[in-house]
Amino acid sequence: MLGASLVALAFAARLVVAAQTGVVGSATGFASGVTGGGNAKAAAPADIDELEAWLTDDEPRVILLDKEYNFLDSMGTTTEEGCRPASNTCGSKGQDALDGPNWCSADYPVVSVTYDVSATKPIDIKSNKSIVGVGDKGVIRGKGFRLVSGAENIILQNFHITELNPEYIWGGDAIQMSGTDLVWIDHMKFSLIGRQMIVTGYETAGRVTISNSEFDGVTNWSASCNGEHYWTMLLIGEQDKITLANNWIHSTSGRSPKVGKTTTLHAVNNFFDTNGGHNFDVEQGAKILLEGNVFKNCKTPMTQQTLDVTSGLFNVATAADGSSCSAALGRVCQQNSMTGSGDFGSFSDLAAVEAIAEAGSVWKATSARPVPSISRKVGVGKLG
Ligand SMILES: *[C@@H]1O[C@H](CO)[C@@H](O)[C@H](O)[C@H]1NC(C)=O
Ligand SMILES: *[C@@H]1O[C@H](CO)[C@@H](O)[C@H](O)[C@H]1NC(C)=O
Repeated sequence: MLGASLVALAFAARLVVAAQTGVVGSATGFASGVTGGGNAKAAAPADIDELEAWLTDDEPRVILLDKEYNFLDSMGTTTEEGCRPASNTCGSKGQDALDGPNWCSADYPVVSVTYDVSATKPIDIKSNKSIVGVGDKGVIRGKGFRLVSGAENIILQNFHITELNPEYIWGGDAIQMSGTDLVWIDHMKFSLIGRQMIVTGYETAGRVTISNSEFDGVTNWSASCNGEHYWTMLLIGEQDKITLANNWIHSTSGRSPKVGKTTTLHAVNNFFDTNGGHNFDVEQGAKILLEGNVFKNCKTPMTQQTLDVTSGLFNVATAADGSSCSAALGRVCQQNSMTGSGDFGSFSDLAAVEAIAEAGSVWKATSARPVPSISRKVGVGKLG
């Protein structure tokens, strides 16, 4: 009896381990078909040096993050001259700026900035990698990542990127994509980032799905001086095809997202939760279908620039708008849900719907869900 139950126990334990040795599920939306490291043997790097080596070598890899990888202070700190931009009207509660990219205008008072160097030096991930957090254990502190120079077929799943000099504009981006293709960002969490949580441009980022992730804008250093992070997502690539689906984007105050150039964006079933600034800031030229999203307490769902856009947008502002999608999508589009939120405008350019249909595998929208049901399933530790 004891022997049999031990065997059963060992079997059950093996099942648990098996469930944690790689990517869970597969991408839908435009990154459909991404395989990352495929069937490469999964392994957890011992430390940040081994992690960096595995991310940057030419082997297909399944890299497990089973603990916190702390890059803070790994390259030391630097003190130099930065500036206090006009946006910072609240001093130490606001965001000052590093002058790395010569961004500080002569009008901005010079201030001394002390920052962690590591967060300003992202790691360039090579092709054919899956990076997957185990359970809720995967955390990267003080380092961001770039997918550039032709790196492609990359999966980032189920880990938290945090503490990239949140005090400073230009303190670090979490994920940059430019000159890449087939990228799946899933069940991630982003918090306390200095600059963008996700940025694409100026080259193409190809086919990208950003799904089930938490964008947590709560910060003590807010560029908009309201406790919310301003620099959330900047999507300004050439011919990018981005599915933004089922994410929880909360407590942000700007660029949630900003979209421009020739980006095609399907923003579907996201929960835009509490934004004292703006959500969509769209430049003419982008093609965007917004459907099945929930906007709750979002002061400016669309900037004035967005409300002035004359073509390329379809925002399913009414139930009647939804049925006109059928010709292009083979189904109705789902109406967005607005509570306690500002002017959503009304856009019904079917060219946006056609662009989504042509861009690849289309995320199957569900009706805009009651708010709590989505926030429980997104982010780290919620796979399966
Ligand atoms: C990535 O994997 C694909 C498919 O297995 C292969 O054709 C390609 O050469 C790989 N790329 C690199 C850079 O290893
Ligand atoms: C903001 O600062 C307070 C007081 O130091 C701290 O308890 C809190 O965790 C900070 N919030 C964030 C998001 O870092």
